[in-house]
Amino acid sequence: MLVLGIETSCDETAAAVVRDDRTIVAHKVLSQITEHREFGGVVPEIAARSHLEHLDRLIAATMEEAGLSFGQLDGVAATSGPGLIGGVLVGVMTAKALAAVHDLPFLAVNHLEGHALTVRLSDNVSFPYLLLLVSGGHCQLLAVDGVGRYQRYGGTVDDAAGEAFDKSAKLLDLGYPGGPALEQAAKQGDAGRFALPRPMKGRPGCDFSFSGLKTAVRQALSELEAPSLQDRRDLAASFQAAVADILEDRCRNALARFRAERGQPGPLVVAGGVAANAALRARLDRLAGEVDTRLVAPPLKLCTDNAAMIAWAGLERLRLGDSAPLDFPARPRWPLAELQPPGARPVPEPQDA
Ligand code: KG4
Ligand code: ZN
Repeated sequence: MLVLGIETSCDETAAAVVRDDRTIVAHKVLSQITEHREFGGVVPEIAARSHLEHLDRLIAATMEEAGLSFGQLDGVAATSGPGLIGGVLVGVMTAKALAAVHDLPFLAVNHLEGHALTVRLSDNVSFPYLLLLVSGGHCQLLAVDGVGRYQRYGGTVDDAAGEAFDKSAKLLDLGYPGGPALEQAAKQGDAGRFALPRPMKGRPGCDFSFSGLKTAVRQALSELEAPSLQDRRDLAASFQAAVADILEDRCRNALARFRAERGQPGPLVVAGGVAANAALRARLDRLAGEVDTRLVAPPLKLCTDNAAMIAWAGLERLRLGDSAPLDFPARPRWPLAELQPPGARPVPEPQDA
């Protein structure tokens, strides 16, 4: 079984082909970083136009790399939400057109489900597992019991973890995109120099909060007269240590709940762009060891947005007999908890998006 995946929900135009034996047959990601850099963040209109300009050639190049014609595929999957709607529409319309022309099933993939199932492609992890999903737009803890079967344990009450990285990196003038830049700066900083808050730490439950931490970074920065590069590196390291403490504390609670409800200690899976952060991975790895389980994190290229994860999520649904009608709507909002297992899924209405 071979599925073409398309990802256009944010600032990466991506296409990939995966096979049901977990082989990534072809994988292409075109980043729009240079187009958004001067604005210090993703500009939705620019993103949508750029997807439109590049997607068809990127798909052609992906198919060429795979050595396949469209007729050899078993399905076409595209991120159908959540995300920046202009970009999502470009991917969805392209996938629907390919599906219609080549008489293939169209697979409407939830971007978050793509992140959630990536470890089954990369590491063949079986259900159930505890998932920490940390990206630019999302920060949540979920028990994953099967395709379309997600139980939410908690989520952020304000900013997502990646958003906190991006905003703090911007405050610290560390460059764009913020997450990776902050991680680099933190490597040369003293994490013990600034005492930043750890919102939610020690509280029961699995919710997160990051906006107070970001405000504390701004405050600490404003108290420095002329912040040197070393000052900013120290603040970056202090920020990253605070995030690690918060994530560890929240995951500890979630792991205890998961064990109580599922009768097994894990595994703990981390996914989404922030999962690319080596310091955070190391911390979660240690936590997993403490509670007798293991941490599974996808390889870096599959942590940040990509189309292999979209193709894979589509393939997982296709082999369970699922596909979407060609009038399936693109959705700016589409919470993971609203998904249903294949076969049980009512077609979501666009108005509740
Ligand atoms: O999953 P993703 O590529 O896009 C979304 O679906 O949001 O995640 C992007 C987010 C951004 O906020 C980015 O700054 C963050 O992931 N990120 C990182 C790192 N690499 C990417 N955050 C911390 N450390 C990193 N190394
Ligand atoms: Zn993502």
